Parts: sequence; C-alpha cells; structure tokens
Amino acid sequence: MKDNSTTLFRILSITQKLLEGRIVSKQELADEFKVSAKTIQRDINKRLSMLPIVLEKGTGWKLDKNSTDKNLAQNYSQIIQLNNASSFIELAIIKAREAIDAADAIIIASGAGMGVDSGLPDFRGDDGFWKAYPPLKALGISFHQMANPKWFVENPSMAWGFYGHRLNLYRNTIPHRGFNILKELVKLKDNNYFIFTSNVDGQFQKAGFDSDKIEECHGSIHHNQCVSNCTDNIWSNEDEHCEVDLNRFLLTSDIPKCKYCNQIARPNILMFGDWGFNAERRNTQTNNLMRWLQNNIANKKSKIVIIEIGAGKDIPTVRNFCEEVSLQYKAKLIRINPRDYNGLQNTISIPLGGLEALEKIYN
Ligand SMILES: NC(=O)c1ccc[n+]([C@@H]2O[C@H](COP(=O)([O-])OP(=O)(O)OC[C@H]3O[C@@H](n4cnc5c(N)ncnc54)[C@H](O)[C@@H]3O)[C@@H](O)[C@H]2O)c1
Ligand SMILES: [Zn+2]
Repeated sequence: MKDNSTTLFRILSITQKLLEGRIVSKQELADEFKVSAKTIQRDINKRLSMLPIVLEKGTGWKLDKNSTDKNLAQNYSQIIQLNNASSFIELAIIKAREAIDAADAIIIASGAGMGVDSGLPDFRGDDGFWKAYPPLKALGISFHQMANPKWFVENPSMAWGFYGHRLNLYRNTIPHRGFNILKELVKLKDNNYFIFTSNVDGQFQKAGFDSDKIEECHGSIHHNQCVSNCTDNIWSNEDEHCEVDLNRFLLTSDIPKCKYCNQIARPNILMFGDWGFNAERRNTQTNNLMRWLQNNIANKKSKIVIIEIGAGKDIPTVRNFCEEVSLQYKAKLIRINPRDYNGLQNTISIPLGGLEALEKIYN
C-alpha cells in the first residue's frame, strides 16, 4: 500500500514535469525519489507508456513536441483514470501552493462557476437555465436568446423581469468563504492583485475587494446605461427597486429610466448581438489592468500567478485571457474547475469546485 502510493506520487510528479516541458533524466529522478534507476526505467516503460515520450541521448526524456495538445490532454486524463484521481488532486494542490508561494502578484480570474458555491446558477446549458427560469422553458427561450438587448425595445417589462430578478438575486447573495480565502492569499502579497471576471454579479466588490483592481469584462448588473445611448455616462442602480412576478416573468414595479433622457434604461452588461453596450466603464477597468500588468512586469519584474476559477468553455473570454497572460508573462496558471479543468501545457489543473479547491490550497 505504502509502496503503491509512492509509485503513484512518482508517476504523477514525472508526468507533471514532462507536461511542463522539462527534460527528465533517469539518474536525477532516481535520486529525487530515492529509488533505483531501474525503477524509473520501469515507470517510463510501463506506467507512462501512453505519453508521447522521446529519449534524447545524453540528456534524458522529454515530451514529443510533435504530439498535439489534444492528444496530450487525452493521454493525461488516461493517466489520471488509471491512477488514483484523489492523488492527482493532492499533487495539483501542492503545485498550486508552491506556485502561489513563489509569486509576487496574483491575478484572480473567474467565470460563472465562481458563484456556484454561493448558491448562484451558472445557467449551464438550456436545462440549467430553464431550471432557474421555468417560465422561459414554456416559451422555449434560451439564455442566449434572453440575454439580448432587443427585449428592452420589444418587451421592456420582460427584459427587466429577467435582469431585475437577477439583480435582486445577486444583491441578496453572500459571497462564499472562497472569497475570504482569496483575500487572505492576496494579503500575503501586500495586496498586489488584479481580478478579471466575466461575472456581472459584483460579488468580488461585495466580498471587499478593491473596485479599482477589478475588470468586469462583460459589464455589471449593478450599473445602468441608456438604451438609446443618449449619453456616455453609466450610473449605479443601487437606488433602483425591482419587483418581479416570476410566474408571468414580468417586472411589476416601474421600469428603470435613463437619468438623462427619461427613456428606458438597461443594465450595463454585454449581451449577445449587443451593438449598444456602453463600454466606457469596462474600458477604464481594462486600462487599470494594463497599467497594473505594465507596472508589475516592466517596473517590478514580478512573478505572477493566475488563479482561474469556474470559467467555462462556451464563451472562453476568461480562459483565453488567462492563457494569453500565462504565455506572455510566463505566469503560472492554476485552473480550478470540476469539469472543464484541462489546459495548455504547464497548467495546474484542479478538478474541484471553487470553494473546495481554495480550502484545500489554504489549509
Ligand atoms: N454570476 C454571473 O455573473 C453570471 C452567471 C451566469 C452567466 N453569466 C454570464 O454568462 C457567461 C457564461 O460564461 P461562463 O464561462 O462564466 O459560464 P459557463 O456556464 O459557461 O461555465 C461555468 C463553468 O463553471 C464550472 N463550474 C461549475 N460548478 C463549479 C464550482 N462549484 N466551482 C467552480 N467552477 C464550477 C463549470 O464546469 C463551467 O466550466 C458569461 O459571459 C457571464 O457574463 C454571469
Ligand atoms: Zn438616455
């Protein structure tokens, strides 16, 4: 039993090294794991035979660059399945801790999955969306169709029925403990952090993060803009009160109005097919992020770690951002996601929910 778990740790460690693009030598591995060179040779031949490994004479083994990322991901998941998944997670947690310890600055990136442990829906698939909004199932309207600016013109009561309900939901939600753990982690770096999220729910601000250190790339439900864009201004809707009849899926209180022209207002959220989204606020946030990156890279030469939580594949804005920053600035990427955890080489994948993963990392 003891020997088995040691073998497993060895296999997963060697896999991780190879996936990080490193060349591993038989003798070095034997020394590191305190086993014979023969054992390492057996590991490579038998346990890791599904990986595309090539031997470079005189230096050691490395991954065959010609194999595609897709194959690698498949091979990697085979190893995880063949071995014990929980040990894989343990190893990933250790790697994540090491990466966070070694960093001077943290990027936190999140998608809808970050809210799931606070009880928020991620609207995953039509089923997930319709579970949250049964009346829309009867009408056959999907999330993609509902999240469209046309409804503010065609049926403002219904449009605000949807967004008013979500506004109330996010206002009443208490961010889960994972947000506090993230606050503790960034404190260790003298609060040198930036947040990039596609969530419109304002949960990071609510948890006490600095709003000047957040980019909400798809906007914010807590802010309104004019439907006809009579002004570039965007304003907080904290004084707005939305009553929604969920059975009829309609707003029953007054429809929020533009402060400037008294026409209909809408949330400052980037919807599908949205040519009217007012990007002023988001652009200011992007500039803050660019300045932060510039300052950390050019001036401080900081080592950055990215903690990505609950970002889906359908609209991969957050995942792409993380991968781009990771490649461009050699930043370690920790990807936390119970389902969509695979990533590019070097990614530290943690196949768990956000709260559970953060608790394990912080333990
Ligand atoms: N809270 C919000 O603000 C909210 C909610 C739903 C959708 N949206 C919008 O819809 C779009 C959806 O894109 P998306 O990629 O964010 O969502 P998505 O629904 O496509 O993906 C959610 C991801 O979260 C993962 N997940 C599920 N449970 C999790 C958990 N407990 N911990 C961590 N991860 C978990 C899923 O595996 C999935 O990969 C975005 O543009 C966003 O603006 C926002
Ligand atoms: Zn207006």
